[in-house]
Amino acid sequence: MSKQKLRIAVQKSGRLFEDSIRILKEAGISINNGKEQLKASSDNFPLEVMYLRNGDIPQYLRDGVVDVAIIGENVLIEKGKDIIKGDKLGFSKCRVSLAVPKSFKYNSIKDLDGLKIATSYPNTVNEFLMEKGISAELHIINGSVEIAPNIGLADAICDIVSSGSTLFKNGLKEVEIMLKSEAVLAVSPEISQERKEILEKLQFRLKSVLNART
Ligand code: PRP
Ligand code: MG
Repeated sequence: MSKQKLRIAVQKSGRLFEDSIRILKEAGISINNGKEQLKASSDNFPLEVMYLRNGDIPQYLRDGVVDVAIIGENVLIEKGKDIIKGDKLGFSKCRVSLAVPKSFKYNSIKDLDGLKIATSYPNTVNEFLMEKGISAELHIINGSVEIAPNIGLADAICDIVSSGSTLFKNGLKEVEIMLKSEAVLAVSPEISQERKEILEKLQFRLKSVLNART
């Protein structure tokens, strides 16, 4: 019996946190400590949980410092195209969309040519605009992106849309859906054979949970 543990990264704060912990619990994996202690072990499954910032997780996977992660596909598309995507987990469904002020007379993506777009997803936006032959000036901000048009920082924004309430409350409308996303179990390209065997057990348990949910 191996003494190795599978190292899994889970979002420390944000919308994935609760559902991530819930799915591990439902898979029969108990994690004893709270997330204040940034590393915790399970006592009934060879798993070590690390609570990390969302945006840092792709780099940890790339470096092989963690073996797997519960992460939004949108983050992998933005920062981790080299990382193995793994199974969809059925929660944290959202879109990554472009939005403009309600008063903006939007007909097509061409209307954004030469304008300013605020976003936390520069790679995703650039790729989308390039495909469409549009050039825009990007302002990269890490949060509260929807405020940008109201304070004159940008003409449009690109961010995650889930319920749509943040857009609505800030007087914006969604005009282009760039991609759809949900939580996935992402796998490090550096994972060892021994840990891959633990991963297979975890994947089996997660699949059973997901099957029972539908
Ligand atoms: C996220 C995202 C959107 C919002 C979308 O922000 O950046 O602003 O949620 O959800 P909704 O469509 O259900 O309103 P979050 O609250 O996580 O904060 P942040 O932007 O400061 O990171
Ligand atoms: Mg936000």
